[in-house]
Amino acid sequence: MTTVRDLRAMAGEDPITMLTAYDATTAELVEESGVDVILVGDSLGNVVLGHDSTLPVTMEEMASHTAAVVRGTDDALVVTDLPFLSIGADRGDSIENAGRLLKEAGANAVKLESGPHTVELTERLTDLGIPVMAHLGLTPQHVNRLGYTRQGTSQDAAEEIRDLAVAHEDAGAFALVLEHVPANLAAAVTDELDIPTIGIGAGPDCDGQVLVVDDAVGLSESTPPFAEAFGEVRSAYTDALDDYVAAVEDGQFPSGEHSHVAEDLDLD
Ligand code: KIV
Repeated sequence: MTTVRDLRAMAGEDPITMLTAYDATTAELVEESGVDVILVGDSLGNVVLGHDSTLPVTMEEMASHTAAVVRGTDDALVVTDLPFLSIGADRGDSIENAGRLLKEAGANAVKLESGPHTVELTERLTDLGIPVMAHLGLTPQHVNRLGYTRQGTSQDAAEEIRDLAVAHEDAGAFALVLEHVPANLAAAVTDELDIPTIGIGAGPDCDGQVLVVDDAVGLSESTPPFAEAFGEVRSAYTDALDDYVAAVEDGQFPSGEHSHVAEDLDLD
């Protein structure tokens, strides 16, 4: 069983692999591939639930999909996202929502889209026994303020990300996701921190990498510029569906091997 302590020990030693999953079957396949961390991202909203952003994702949806991923997992560390507005408005609610994803859904840790407002909460959750993965750079819950563009490209913005990274490490975060930031900024942050950085669109020098699983296997219709498809699952999927429809329409399916006859029935 991978723990947050194992992950911390991998910083600068072993490249960390992380992929998203939103259901038990995918979690099983991802784990079989040897991935260290499974992230139940709130990208659930765009990838699975058909929304055009992560903003509509609810606590109930995160809890349900996290529990499914946990049921499909034996060894990988399961980290789950706190969705938009589940933290920040009220301290008690923030703690309760984070705790619920561990207590009810069985996650091992939570990820917070981070900023100045999450430093104190990271410390409190860590003190309470809820491990926190921080997330800086492009934070999709802030799409209405930041868009989906690269972050940390000006001197001030880069320094703010670096300072917040240090502040979250000091507050007790066990790892940090850096999304869509310059590779040299990610390298500098990785150098400065003891906890591992996990990059997505942040260059090769982070301690680990994360992708949305549908992008990684080639199931997504379109992918961000920093993602790579390592397979062609979408075309394999559509070929299989086309073949099924054709086989039913042609009367080829089901055949004798898919059917059974109960000889003793008197149906006259
Ligand atoms: O929600 C998500 O899938 C994420 C990853 C892209 C890091 O936050």
